[in-house]
Amino acid sequence: MTSLIKSANATEFQEILLSNGQAKLHRLLPFVSQSFLDSIKQGDWPRWRQRLDQLPRHKPSQFQIAGTIRIGQSTDLTAAEKSTLEKQLKEFIPWRKGPFNLFGIEIDTEWRSDLKWSRLAHMIAPLKGRRVLDVGSGNGYFSLRMVSEGANLVVGLEPHMAYFAQFCALRNFLPSSPAVLLPIPLEQMPRPLPHFDTVFSMGVIYHRRSPIDHLLHLKDCLCSGGELVLETLVVDGPAGYSLLPRAGYARMSNVWFIPSIPSILQWLDRCGFINVKVISESTTELTEQHPTEWMPFKSLDSALLANNPSQTVEGYPSPKRAILLANKT
Ligand SMILES: C[S@@+](CC[C@H](N)C(=O)[O-])C[C@H]1O[C@@H](n2cnc3c(N)ncnc32)[C@H](O)[C@@H]1O
Repeated sequence: MTSLIKSANATEFQEILLSNGQAKLHRLLPFVSQSFLDSIKQGDWPRWRQRLDQLPRHKPSQFQIAGTIRIGQSTDLTAAEKSTLEKQLKEFIPWRKGPFNLFGIEIDTEWRSDLKWSRLAHMIAPLKGRRVLDVGSGNGYFSLRMVSEGANLVVGLEPHMAYFAQFCALRNFLPSSPAVLLPIPLEQMPRPLPHFDTVFSMGVIYHRRSPIDHLLHLKDCLCSGGELVLETLVVDGPAGYSLLPRAGYARMSNVWFIPSIPSILQWLDRCGFINVKVISESTTELTEQHPTEWMPFKSLDSALLANNPSQTVEGYPSPKRAILLANKT
């Protein structure tokens, strides 16, 4: 059988990057080459590649994106095919971002990512015809939502190979789509590459040791007049204040700076962005993030104090998030 990775990335991804006048993106081609994918040693990548190669090539009779991303319907498969596929998809657990439905198989993900999308979709510059960069794209749930809004091209960046593998698994069943995922962190992107009309960084900045460098790098990916969509955890506090957890935050060990809203506005301003504004503030509820059959590990419920859910187990304020927009001059 042709290697799925070979067909889904090395060839098809290269074609997408080079088509429709995207020639400037030739600098990204090394990251979708077979040799680059072969060189990745992280996690269980070799095992996930084998699993990807074992996936069948069922053809979906329909493709719909509303809250749930639906690929195919139950009647496209026999009961035996559906049962086998469900087992194969479960091999890619944990499924964090979604929800998805593949051929009637409901992938009930940890996050109701559709809720985040509904907070921002009507506030951002329409994506129709735009070139979009989705930094920290996870399994590509949002990248696919961006495509469904009419984006010309969506390039996702996701260095965590478990989520990259999930995207490859989903893409195996998708009709052709201008969405490409690169298995690299933003820091590995050629710089500057001011090619994108909209750059999303959602849920990433508080994982970075240097948030200002993150913002400056995002700016280097935007074309003049382009829009940044930044989503982050926030805490209450004045300008200049941010929380640097002693160790973990809400059981996450890789959290660095959680800014107050006045601070993140100031960071964006100092980085030279204009038209900076907050479009959404929300408290993360258990209805939005919870363990499921497809993500059976610890989640928000075990990160909050049982007798006081307004605090994390480390004694910090429980998660609040904000979405901001800004433009490059
Ligand atoms: C909290 S998740 C957010 C996923 C999705 N964007 C969302 O909003 O739900 C953060 C993601 O960013 C990825 N990530 C972390 N550091 C990154 C970096 N330097 N460049 C690109 N992605 C990064 C992680 O692997 C993870 O999948």
